[in-house]
Amino acid sequence: MNLKEYLAARIQTVEAALERWVPAETVAPQTIHRAMRYSLFAGGKRIRPVLCIGAAEALGVSPKGIEDAACTLEMIHTYSLIHDDLPALDNDDLRRGRPTNHVVFGEAMAILAGDSLLTLAFETLGKLPHASDLTKARLVAELATASGTVGGMIGGQVHDIEGERQPPTAELLEAIHRAKTGALLRASVRMGAIYAGANAEQLDALSRYGEHTGLAFQIVDDILDVEESAETLGKTPGKDQAQQKITFPAVYGLEKSKQMAEVERLAAHEALKPFGQAAEPLAELADFIVKRKA
Ligand code: IPE
Ligand code: IPE
Ligand code: MG
Ligand code: MG
Ligand code: MG
Repeated sequence: MNLKEYLAARIQTVEAALERWVPAETVAPQTIHRAMRYSLFAGGKRIRPVLCIGAAEALGVSPKGIEDAACTLEMIHTYSLIHDDLPALDNDDLRRGRPTNHVVFGEAMAILAGDSLLTLAFETLGKLPHASDLTKARLVAELATASGTVGGMIGGQVHDIEGERQPPTAELLEAIHRAKTGALLRASVRMGAIYAGANAEQLDALSRYGEHTGLAFQIVDDILDVEESAETLGKTPGKDQAQQKITFPAVYGLEKSKQMAEVERLAAHEALKPFGQAAEPLAELADFIVKRKA
């Protein structure tokens, strides 16, 4: 199976899981379910849940119900995007090729749609039909820490916002990126490994893969913001410079940033060595993350 076919197949199982867990638009109160689904089913790349499934597969298993755990990453990620786009944060009006959630549903409903996806992620983990109570508890802790304030997504968003118009330093840049994006990508891989019953050594190696892939992911996100069009990206380009964000291109320039993403890609490959052929999809996902145009 080449990467394109692999992605299509895994994305399909993830979308089906999301369909099952997210209340239908006909369920009351209908507005909130419409708002949640509007952003969730707008055609994201689904990188995080696919990494989760890929990590389980690297251990040589395809555990029953992994897509239920994997789809919670997409719930958290979509919530973070809805809130990231709010007028009080990045104030963006285009996301996944559509007007942003608050543009369509209003700010109050967009805030609540984000809150609801956040809550639903943990409800889903608590109700996983094919995992032990211990596994569920470990998954909840993993996802909560990665989404939280200490080295997690919210902590990174705080540094990102407070960094606007501040002198860009290499230290702050790395702290922002590891937290706001890297933590959830690392957790994606770790959750798949935990679900599949990884031992400490395997979890360690996959965490390293997740860290390198996570950092590469945000370096490339920053590069694409400079180089690509709204049409390709499905979001507004040039926002980072306009808002004086601390980004890799702002600190290192485009060429050096590209080299740094490449270094992370190779380090991600290196971390996969112990898993051999079973980790081929994860290796190709790291390549995809660095070579993508959107
Ligand atoms: C964009 O994430 C926001 C960041 C964390 C950099 P993605 O590039 O994964 O966005 P979607 O899910 O494909 O829309
Ligand atoms: C957002 O980073 C990271 C999140 C936690 C959502 P960005 O602000 O760079 O994401 P985009 O470029 O708007 O997708
Ligand atoms: Mg932002
Ligand atoms: Mg943004
Ligand atoms: Mg960005």
